[in-house]
Amino acid sequence: MRLDHHRVVITAAGRDFGRTLALRLAELGAEVFLSARTLAAAERVRDEISDRGRVHAFACDLTDAASIRDFASRVASHTDRVDVLINNGARYLEGPALQSASDADVVDTVASGATGTILVTKSFLPLLLNSEKPDVITMVSACGTAGHQRSDAHDAFYAAKSAQAGFTEILSRRLRPQGVRVISLYPPDFDNADPLAEEWETAPRGAKDALTAQSLVECILFAVTQPRDCFIKSFHFEQV
Ligand SMILES: NC(=O)c1ccc[n+]([C@@H]2O[C@H](COP(=O)([O-])OP(=O)(O)OC[C@H]3O[C@@H](n4cnc5c(N)ncnc54)[C@H](OP(=O)(O)O)[C@@H]3O)[C@@H](O)[C@H]2O)c1
Repeated sequence: MRLDHHRVVITAAGRDFGRTLALRLAELGAEVFLSARTLAAAERVRDEISDRGRVHAFACDLTDAASIRDFASRVASHTDRVDVLINNGARYLEGPALQSASDADVVDTVASGATGTILVTKSFLPLLLNSEKPDVITMVSACGTAGHQRSDAHDAFYAAKSAQAGFTEILSRRLRPQGVRVISLYPPDFDNADPLAEEWETAPRGAKDALTAQSLVECILFAVTQPRDCFIKSFHFEQV
C-alpha cells in the first residue's frame, strides 16, 4: 500500500500517536504537513522523518484560533490541496473527580480537543475541497461514545471527546454531498510503540492484548484507500 499521491495534515504530531502517524504515512510516500504545539517539537519529528519521506513542520496551538488559521495559511503556501486531515490533537486530563482539575485545565482540555478540532477542520476545508479524494480523520476516543464509563479521564476530557463525536457526526452527513469523507476512530486506551524501535514489529497483537497503534494506523490506511463509494464513518473497538 502506497500513499505517494496523498498530501496529509496531522495535528499534535510532536509526540506519541501523532508522531507515529507522521512517521508511518511519510514512509508510505505521503507528503506530510505536521504540526505540534511548538515549532521546535514539530521540527524534531520532521528531522526524524526527513530522510524517509516528504515532510513539513509547523507550529499550531489548538487552543488558539489565530495559531490554527496561521497553520492553515502556511500550509496553503506550500500546496493548493490537502487530501487527508488528521485531527489527532487533544489534551488528555486525568482524574475522575470533577473538582480535581483547575479551571484552567478544564478550559484547556475542552479548547484543544473540541474547539481546536472544529477550527482546524474549518480552516482546512477549502484545501480539502480542492482534493479529488478528501478525508477528515478524527481521533476521538471510547470516551466519546454515549454511555462509556471505563476511563479514569476527567469529565472535561469526556466532554471534549463527546464534542468531537457530535461535530464529526453532523459533519459527516453535511459534507457527504461534496465528497468529503469524515471518518472517526473511537479507541479505548491503546499501546503506542515507537515506529522507529524494534517493538513496532514485535509488540504482541493477540486477542488478549490491548489495542495497538499499529492496528489504528492500519484502520486509517484501510479507510483512506477505499474507493470513494466506501464511506467508513467510524471505527469502534471492543475493550479487553
Ligand atoms: N493514547 C490512548 O490510549 C488514546 C485512547 C483513545 C483516544 N486517544 C486519542 O488519540 C489522540 C492521540 O493520542 P495520544 O496518546 O498520542 O495523546 P497524548 O499522548 O495525550 O498527546 C496529546 C497530544 O496533543 C497535543 N496537545 C495537547 N494540547 C495541545 C494544544 N493546545 N495544541 C497543540 N497540541 C496539543 C500534545 O502536545 P504537547 O506535546 O505539546 O503536549 C500531544 O502531542 C488524542 O486525540 C487522544 O485523545 C488516545
